[in-house]
Amino acid sequence: MSSRTVIRGGLVVTATDELTADVLIEDGRVVALAAHGSAYAEGWTADTVIDATGHYVIPGGVDAHTHMELPFGGTFASDTFETGTRAAAWGGTTTIVDFAVQSVGRSLREGLDAWHAKASGRCAIDYAFHMILSDVNESSLKEMDLLVSEGVTSFKLFMAYPGVFYSDDGQILRAMQRSAGNGGLIMMHAENGIAIDVLVEQALAAGRTDPRHHGEVRKVLLEAEATHRAVQLARVAGAPLYVVHVSAREALAELAAARDQGLPVFGETCPQYLFLSTDNLAEPDFEGAKYVCSTPLRPRDHQEALWRGLRTDDLQVVSTDHCPFCFQGQKELGRGDFSKIPNGLPGVENRMDLLHQAVLDGHITRRRWIEIACAAPARMFGLYPKKGTIAPGADADIVIYDPNARHTLSVATQHMNVDYSAYEGRSVTGQVVTVLSRGETVIDRRRFTGRAGHGRFVPRETCQHLT
Ligand code: URP
Ligand code: ZN
Ligand code: ZN
Ligand code: ZN
Repeated sequence: MSSRTVIRGGLVVTATDELTADVLIEDGRVVALAAHGSAYAEGWTADTVIDATGHYVIPGGVDAHTHMELPFGGTFASDTFETGTRAAAWGGTTTIVDFAVQSVGRSLREGLDAWHAKASGRCAIDYAFHMILSDVNESSLKEMDLLVSEGVTSFKLFMAYPGVFYSDDGQILRAMQRSAGNGGLIMMHAENGIAIDVLVEQALAAGRTDPRHHGEVRKVLLEAEATHRAVQLARVAGAPLYVVHVSAREALAELAAARDQGLPVFGETCPQYLFLSTDNLAEPDFEGAKYVCSTPLRPRDHQEALWRGLRTDDLQVVSTDHCPFCFQGQKELGRGDFSKIPNGLPGVENRMDLLHQAVLDGHITRRRWIEIACAAPARMFGLYPKKGTIAPGADADIVIYDPNARHTLSVATQHMNVDYSAYEGRSVTGQVVTVLSRGETVIDRRRFTGRAGHGRFVPRETCQHLT
């Protein structure tokens, strides 16, 4: 039985075009777009007609950086694949790329299988995986080829967190050389973790234990230095590089300098670095713990550089690094010792709205909003044009978006499984109305109509197109 849906009368916005058009969907895919009111579009018959008059019709968001159920600091990120993907759908995101984790001493295979087991049958939207390499050795290097062949085509390495996820420069170089040969992409957490650990120890010994010291020891210079080193190692290996969660102006300058030389170096930032700052980390009564993540929040004057980078394409992607920990019982593990606060912020539900607000505030254009939140992450990670755009042949992952609906971000109304909002009380204009995932309605006029298990694993193409 084939099913047909038509979305009528909305302003279709993609990364490249804006036009008032009708969209015809058949069996979960977009089959045609045509000018609203044209004889061609008027002739379409459908089982379901969605009236999008006065609304935008945009591709579903692609969040290329989430951590559902991540084990970290003796606890687990509080969103499961079920709660986290439902919240993503509420926020207009229809694909996540989550990070499977290789544990030290274990194989990539074991790590990936464990992530498949967590996600399978539970997701409300489609999902894919990157792999975190915590133990780069002869056998894990070989396994990288196997993962690429299974559609897990990107690998995160950490220059931070010695003793946990950390890789040294030799391990990083080997992994980059491997990815240069197999079409994989190395994603880098660029902070000098060895130096940071010295500063952590000194801060704690001096009694500087509050959350704000998390930001003070994780210095801008140590993000910039690691970013520079990652770029040089990638050059030596002849590999493309994607730097995750760029937060500092000086780190961005390293990426911009590399890109000016024509190197295949890419960068992502996250809403928390664009909208929050060290002021939040300094909130009294341990409230600052809600804003502990790494890379850390920076002084407010870094934000303008990040917005500029997003406009000039020195930064290509905004993803969330969604990694929620409840204030009660989880963030509290670090009372009296900021280094024990689990790192990460909730945000998978808020990204599309915050970036739409940035359109209204004049930081980016409407099409750039779709580029950095949908098209670029899909392209970067081998999901395009199946995901990230509205075009014939693409999956019908589509959001009907009301650009005029004003609402307030709050723990009281959010769907993420966490006991606070990092954006509590912030008013934004623009809200998701209806969401389709492969043509199925998962949010219908602000009611959740999806189901756990609708979402499918999406194997990704290699990242060879980046070089
Ligand atoms: O603080 C963060 N970002 N937590 C998640 C792990 C990571 O480094 O991305
Ligand atoms: Zn990281
Ligand atoms: Zn992360
Ligand atoms: Zn409306």
